[in-house]
Amino acid sequence: MKQIKIILADDNDNTRSSLKRLLELDDAIDIVSEARDGKEVIAQIPSMEPHIVLMDVNMPELNGIEATRVINRNYPQVAVILMSVNDETQNFRRAMSAGAKEYLVKPIPTTELHSAIHQVAEAHGQSLKRSAFTAPNGNVQPVIGKQKIISMFGTKGGVGKSLVCTNLAVAAAQATHGRVGLMDLDFQFGDVCVMMNIEPRRTILELLQEGDQSGKEILEQFLYERYGVHVLAPPNKPELSELISAAGVARIMTLFREYCDYTFIDTSSYIDESTLTILENSDIILLVVGLDLPSIKDIKKAMDILRSLSLLPKARLILNRSKSVAGIEARDVEKALDLPIRLQLPSDGKLVMASVNQGVPFIKINPRAPISKEIINLFRMLEKEQV
Ligand SMILES: Nc1ncnc2c1ncn2[C@@H]1O[C@H](COP(=O)(O)OP(=O)(O)OP(=O)(O)O)[C@@H](O)[C@H]1O
Ligand SMILES: [Mg+2]
Repeated sequence: MKQIKIILADDNDNTRSSLKRLLELDDAIDIVSEARDGKEVIAQIPSMEPHIVLMDVNMPELNGIEATRVINRNYPQVAVILMSVNDETQNFRRAMSAGAKEYLVKPIPTTELHSAIHQVAEAHGQSLKRSAFTAPNGNVQPVIGKQKIISMFGTKGGVGKSLVCTNLAVAAAQATHGRVGLMDLDFQFGDVCVMMNIEPRRTILELLQEGDQSGKEILEQFLYERYGVHVLAPPNKPELSELISAAGVARIMTLFREYCDYTFIDTSSYIDESTLTILENSDIILLVVGLDLPSIKDIKKAMDILRSLSLLPKARLILNRSKSVAGIEARDVEKALDLPIRLQLPSDGKLVMASVNQGVPFIKINPRAPISKEIINLFRMLEKEQV
């Protein structure tokens, strides 16, 4: 059943027809018209009534960014997805500030293109059924997995928990048609909002004050959407964290499980009753370790805690900044912990610094960087896990 009406615009005829072929693989997508520049797009909107305009940034007459501004002002019901061959941050930021809902870098993998369109359509208020879609081989693929809650855990600060958690959530949103949640439960020093450029006014604290009866509709009002991820912020002031009870945390995790297909939880390095509640109610616990002794010692401690709670089977070990500098190798870590490393993330100081400073996840700034590819692999691995 065709549900999402799209105007496709690109000045290059070959690119446009190959994009069209990819779009036609998804049964829910209906290409209502095509255009070669921004002016043509704008002229077609009143008669075609598209839900989404998918267009290239660089087009003659009116370029994609200028056209996005005009569409946003005059047709706010239409969502714009911009595409470019250029993944420079500058372009990305200009696209977003013009009002684009997504920015895709060509060549765009088919699944990424389809899921971006579904997410934008859904976030933009079109009540679309999350249908299965037809794969290139003609088979119908189920796109929604079982609801999973995946948490970060570790008692040492600075190992990369927040960085991994944030980018992993964005990877999940890109890779699935499902709803993805991200809870920053580092109540005192949460970094997720900074990493996602969110200045929250509504936080978990106000959500808890709504009382026991709050359901999915109330939850939605407290979430901030970025790149298809629905983020719940921690309290604005560290001292307010005392007001959050473990029972409150458990209640909100239940809401997220009902509301989202994947929920990612970032935690603090501090262990209290809330942390234990998070661990008990998670399906998978990610332990992030580095190639240094303090970090290995910390994970050992974390594993002891998990073992005493019979939660160790849920733990998966991730090695961050995997290039050895101090003579410790990945296999030494595995031997010391007696746990296999499931995935290794390389270090990328330049990209990570740009990402953290600009508040844009690195997977968005450069999806093809080795660190981004490994985050995508990590999500694929987690997606396959039976929980
Ligand atoms: N793979 C990496 N490449 C480059 N820099 C990295 C990498 N991983 C982490 N970093 C750096 O380490 C910093 C700390 O990471 P992050 O905030 O994710 O740690 P954390 O485990 O959440 O710490 P805390 O427990 O204090 O919240 C990042 O801001 C970044 O500068
Ligand atoms: Mg953190």
